[in-house]
Amino acid sequence: MAKILITSGPTRQYLDPVRYLTNGSSGVMGSALAQAALQAGHQVVMVSGPVRVRYPSGVKLLEVETTQEMLEACLAEFPNCDGLIGAAAPCDYQPAAVAAQKLKKTGEPLLLKLIETPDIVATLGKKKRLNQWTVGFALESEDARFQAIGKLQRKLCDLVVVNGVGAINSPHNEIEILNPAGEVVLAASGTKRKLAQQIIRVLDEQLLGPRSKTASATPSARPRKPQARI
Ligand code: C5P
Repeated sequence: MAKILITSGPTRQYLDPVRYLTNGSSGVMGSALAQAALQAGHQVVMVSGPVRVRYPSGVKLLEVETTQEMLEACLAEFPNCDGLIGAAAPCDYQPAAVAAQKLKKTGEPLLLKLIETPDIVATLGKKKRLNQWTVGFALESEDARFQAIGKLQRKLCDLVVVNGVGAINSPHNEIEILNPAGEVVLAASGTKRKLAQQIIRVLDEQLLGPRSKTASATPSARPRKPQARI
């Protein structure tokens, strides 16, 4: 049994007290992953942005709004977890400044200056200790495998789940799981519920189970214990 940290849903980045940037992530995949992980006997800590989807009652749920808040919750929980599944779609950009009062219309175009938010999967990837692992998601509209392997390497992931833009706000998905060698360890399509079960099975085999064999993407590949810690 492992304790798995899962990020899920979108984040919001405020322009002023009432307006924000966000995206269409529904949290359905994160919820399905949580359900599948619980069914497989794992513990789940869920850090989620604002979503309508309900998470299984067995998870420890931490609700956040911004990417920074998601990062802080993950930094607090990750040391007590065996690994991370980054299924969230955190906003990659935030306004350089947040107006204290609601922005007024002026009749002129409003120019926004956006700066990058911290990358949660990459930050936790750098903090992995012996036997901890991270799995990222890559939502790609072109050159999916190539882009996804680049993300796996940059974010120091142990596996990356590739999916297309059709995944957003849909009960279905089409995925490939790639390892650091660029090999496809699973290709599947179907409901997110079914795919989540397959993803957890792959994690059990590749990262947690006695047949654990995935080379880590960390600078020095580290040996793994035969069984996950509880
Ligand atoms: O947005 P991108 O395609 O780079 O997302 C790939 C992976 O990185 C996903 O697992 C996502 O959860 C994660 N991510 C993150 N923090 C961000 C942006 C993305 O953890 N600020």
